[in-house]
Amino acid sequence: GVKIVTIGGGSSYTPELMEGFIKRYDELPIREIWLVDIEDGKEKLETVGTMAQRMWDASPYDVKVHLTLDRREALKDADFVTTQFRVGLLNARVKDERIPLSYGIIGQETNGPGGIFKAFRTIPIILGIVEDMKELCPDAWLINFTNPAGMVTDAIIRYGKWDKVIGLCNVPVGAMMAEPELIGKSLDELVYSFAGINHFHWHRVKDLQGNDVTGEIIEKMYSSDAGIPANIHDIPFFIDQVKKMNMIPCGYHRYYYRYEEMLNHMLEEYNDPEIGTRAQQVKQTEAELFELYQDPNLDYKPEQLSKRGGAHYSDAACETIASIYANKNTHIVVSTKNNGAVPDLPADTVVEVSAYIGATGARPIAFGSLPPAERGWLQVMKNMELVVEEAAVTGDYGLALQAFIINPLIPSGETAKRVLDELLIAHKKYLPQF
Ligand code: NAD
Ligand code: G6P
Ligand code: MN
Repeated sequence: GVKIVTIGGGSSYTPELMEGFIKRYDELPIREIWLVDIEDGKEKLETVGTMAQRMWDASPYDVKVHLTLDRREALKDADFVTTQFRVGLLNARVKDERIPLSYGIIGQETNGPGGIFKAFRTIPIILGIVEDMKELCPDAWLINFTNPAGMVTDAIIRYGKWDKVIGLCNVPVGAMMAEPELIGKSLDELVYSFAGINHFHWHRVKDLQGNDVTGEIIEKMYSSDAGIPANIHDIPFFIDQVKKMNMIPCGYHRYYYRYEEMLNHMLEEYNDPEIGTRAQQVKQTEAELFELYQDPNLDYKPEQLSKRGGAHYSDAACETIASIYANKNTHIVVSTKNNGAVPDLPADTVVEVSAYIGATGARPIAFGSLPPAERGWLQVMKNMELVVEEAAVTGDYGLALQAFIINPLIPSGETAKRVLDELLIAHKKYLPQF
């Protein structure tokens, strides 16, 4: 039987993960699941962990869910380790988003200044997890969901020297689930190709005869919000730009292609005491979810979880694990080492691309070079990530400033420096390296 360890087990997403494992039990015979958390997440772990056990008890399968604050005890002889933790919990995210917005700067928690600070807090912890894995489960696969998933996955390989890692995001899953029906097809009648980096990728779609149907989907997307994650405000792309590109940008491209409108929308919500930042909205949803999870009769994933942006997470995570375990060679979009799939980026950097997932991990599918505009964006964004990672590992203030200045969502200058300084103080407790 398979031993699964989930770090950040107290997350409200855990029932989503359990549902995915239950659905795939026949091909992935799990013996035990260990949910790991820390003292600050103890109550959440107990509530959601008990709920997770109820889900298994309601299934035909005999699986034990262990709850622990002892990561090392859990990691011993693990087969798959999944990570879904948030250093500082949602209160830290409130700061990530609110402090930049208070200066009129987008406070996005994955690719704005918030994302940079989430990386600063997360990378040292994930490197500690990797060190424990080298000792306690050297053959295990690490399936990383912790954001910023691209940078965290890259840092695991680059600084942790650990190659058995796959980074995941639900955004490509959402696109593949929503788009086919826009053109009257099902997913198995289409061939999807993704390339880019996490929260900054594009995709093309062909039919089984090899005809490009990307343009057809783009046309239809303008009369629907299909595939946009729940956390992203729907401002449509400029159709002339996207048609010319003939690639479908991911939801997060709105922050770059419609920067002004996205910032204004975020400021409007921030300035409305009834709404607030996304982090504040999510705290509300989380409280509602944990209220439900306490119900001893609830033994399935509640509908309310779909208010969170991470819907379909389990389809990516559990399918990846099942594909490695059963050597299925399924097409899944993952963060993995480039190895030439996107020739515009170095071979050793992590990209988010279409890949075949099997017993040896991810084999990225060649996408080819991007047109100049997208290539330019991608190279800036990937190099921004590399600066962030190095700053996270070294605690170098000059590099942190470089990361802020190169990030396209942060207008450079005195204000950027002030936001950086304020975030460094606000998160001091979680940033021993600075
Ligand atoms: P959350 O605030 O509920 O945090 C999850 C748990 O992590 C908490 O119970 C917390 O106590 C625990 N934790 C914090 N530090 C820890 C540590 N050092 N070791 C072990 N556990 C620790 O978070 P959430 O909103 O449920 O999100 C969970 C994570 O998943 C976040 O990192 C988020 O960015 C990520 N996420 C990723 C995607 C994706 O597409 N890749 C989608 C949704 C969420
Ligand atoms: C998704 C992204 C995730 C992100 C989440 C935020 O769609 O893929 O990486 O963490 O949305 O959702 P939330 O509900 O936490 O704002
Ligand atoms: Mn994501």
